[in-house]
Amino acid sequence: MARRKKIYEGKAKILYEGPEPGTLVQYFKDDATAFNAEKRATIEGKGVLNNRLSEFFMTGLANIGVPTHFIRRINMREQLIRAVEIIPLEVIVRNYAAGSMAKRLGLEEGMQLPRPIIEFSYKNDELGDPLVPEEYIIAFGWASQQDLDDIVALALRVNDFMSGMMMGVGIKLVDFKIEIGRIWDGDFMRLIVADEISPDSCRLWDIETGQKLDKDVFRRDLGNLTDAYTEVARRLGVMPTNNGTGGKPTLVN
Ligand code: TMP
Repeated sequence: MARRKKIYEGKAKILYEGPEPGTLVQYFKDDATAFNAEKRATIEGKGVLNNRLSEFFMTGLANIGVPTHFIRRINMREQLIRAVEIIPLEVIVRNYAAGSMAKRLGLEEGMQLPRPIIEFSYKNDELGDPLVPEEYIIAFGWASQQDLDDIVALALRVNDFMSGMMMGVGIKLVDFKIEIGRIWDGDFMRLIVADEISPDSCRLWDIETGQKLDKDVFRRDLGNLTDAYTEVARRLGVMPTNNGTGGKPTLVN
């Protein structure tokens, strides 16, 4: 079979040309990076877990009317998505202080914020994805004021959905990052959730124990990353588990 055309390779995913115009195939690698790729590792099984988890979250979002790029999962590591024009921003939503915010403001990690706080980073690896104010975003034309209003509304809906979903399985959604893409229907432009939603791009803490179930396990050397992601998937009922059927193979669909 002819090899597919590679459109883009990022740190954790590869995009290939899709079967129809306006589509792409998103492949989830096992590679993990942190601190702007200063720290790297290959973590067996991470790609499979993130493919399934991103499918699960994006499908749930579509079911409550939040538009996403997800079309369908193709196999263990690949999903069919809509091709979008990515807005060069990391849209971060925080419910509790952690990570760079805790550091910047000298806050204790885990402090509940007065309300969800949204911030934007400019997606640029060479610059280390710097935090940018809305003024920059509009002045440099990365997004208009109207786009930003729509992005904030989308991000808050994603936050409500994800927080509720996680709360239901005993996990606190501390913060997360999404990316937004533009799609065009003729002259009409729409903004949709793109990229991925997975434990790579969220902070997830067990409500009871505070145990970290996200990429901080890798960033901070806290244990086995695959075990953490598997636990998230297991609680959500996403991955087929070995449920004591005597080792009989389970159908994976
Ligand atoms: P931060 O506290 O390091 O700024 O991260 C905020 C959230 O964004 C956290 O859930 C992790 C996620 N994130 C990414 O998805 N990609 C990144 O490159 C970074 C720095 C953070």
